[in-house]
Amino acid sequence: MELDAKIPNNVNLSSDPKLQRALEKWQPRFLDWWMDMGPEGFQKDDVYLRTAISVDPAGWAHYDYVKMPDYRWGIFLTPQQSGRVIGFGDNQGQPVWNEVPGEFRTQLRRLIVTQGDTEPASVEQQRRLGKTAPSVFDLRNLFQVNVEEGRHLWAMVYLLHSYFGRDGREEAEELLDRRSGDRDKPRILGAFNEPCDDWLNFYMFTMFTDRDGKYQLLALAESGFDPLARTTKFMLTEEAFHMSVGETGVGRIVDRTAQLMREKKDDDVRKHGAIDLPTIQKYLNFWVSVSSDLFGGEISTNAAQYFAAGLKGRNREESYDDHKLLDSFYSMEVSKEGRLVTEEIPLRNAMNEVLRDDYIEDCQRGVDRWNKALEDAGLSDRLKLPHRRFHRQIGIYSGLHFSPEGVPISEEEWKRKRGEWLPTDEDQAFVRSLMHAVTEPGKMASWIGPPRQGIKGKPLEFEYVRKA
Ligand SMILES: [Fe+2]
Ligand SMILES: [Fe+2]
Repeated sequence: MELDAKIPNNVNLSSDPKLQRALEKWQPRFLDWWMDMGPEGFQKDDVYLRTAISVDPAGWAHYDYVKMPDYRWGIFLTPQQSGRVIGFGDNQGQPVWNEVPGEFRTQLRRLIVTQGDTEPASVEQQRRLGKTAPSVFDLRNLFQVNVEEGRHLWAMVYLLHSYFGRDGREEAEELLDRRSGDRDKPRILGAFNEPCDDWLNFYMFTMFTDRDGKYQLLALAESGFDPLARTTKFMLTEEAFHMSVGETGVGRIVDRTAQLMREKKDDDVRKHGAIDLPTIQKYLNFWVSVSSDLFGGEISTNAAQYFAAGLKGRNREESYDDHKLLDSFYSMEVSKEGRLVTEEIPLRNAMNEVLRDDYIEDCQRGVDRWNKALEDAGLSDRLKLPHRRFHRQIGIYSGLHFSPEGVPISEEEWKRKRGEWLPTDEDQAFVRSLMHAVTEPGKMASWIGPPRQGIKGKPLEFEYVRKA
């Protein structure tokens, strides 16, 4: 463990001076990017943050006040398992690779760059949210998510620098050059170019888009390229917090809305400074659909190749019996001349859909918990996950129109109903009108309930962010 090194790490970086120098050259560029594109207006404040200091499940994090630019972004891989073999695909049973196999170099680099690009992208998307945080507690959580996305970028850049030579270093530079939402040099994936400029968006993003991240990381944690598997395994521990921010964030909005609906006997809680359930539903529809796109096309030769090569597996690959999938099929509803018909797709080509299935199930569990809160509040209203075909821009359902229930509809109907299903300009203006910073510790904005507990045993009134 080299915790006091310029770049904290558990990969014995000092034993590889060439790599160390390359990363130390990238470090100031990263910091420049963080100052330009990281949280705006809070870089000098003391934030009560957790910092990764090991990968030991019992005590991997340290909590203290840190100024964000001084955060100790480190490189942490879970320990190597001796005798680990590739768990799936054509190379199943072979020893895992500790170097990049030449024939898979391009594919592996693409996987790592695509994952790596999402990390700085989300920091960019969220950079102005601090100015309207609904509480000091939420402000701290935002910054925790942001610094950890920065660490995830470090994780991917470490792989690029260590295993991909000059083109890896070039890719690492480009990860700092692209910008979320920029017309000329956008981030790679669609959802990471969408604005995330209010806190309802932020919670939906951390609930649904970070959860796509979880499933991508779970699939990469199965990789036969061992350094990638070991890196992503540790990233998952941090990702869990991001999703809990999203789930509890939306949950607290739902709590507040339900409380007002009951107290005021009025569904229109907007006039009481809260967010009405139909608006929450529209934001949910939007973020579920753009996050579903991140899994890629339903039928994908890339996905088949990743699986065949042993680069990207399924979520918990060991829970399956067959790891080769040479004669298995996935029954998929595809659109043929405007009608949905079921087709049998070779399973390897349906890998994105298999991963999306697990994702949707996981999302549903979260929605169920929000609905439980509505039920407990004595309300009959429920939130619903939109169908996977709804509002898709990628894959076999893109270019077609479906209702949130997944029923095919005409373009005219889509245009007519769109504003009932997705946030309108007016909805967004309303949500934005609620966004004002609440800076007194322990106090909450009018549209969100309090969290059940503070951070690391601290009370809710704790000063999680101290102004400089
Ligand atoms: Fe991340
Ligand atoms: Fe995340």
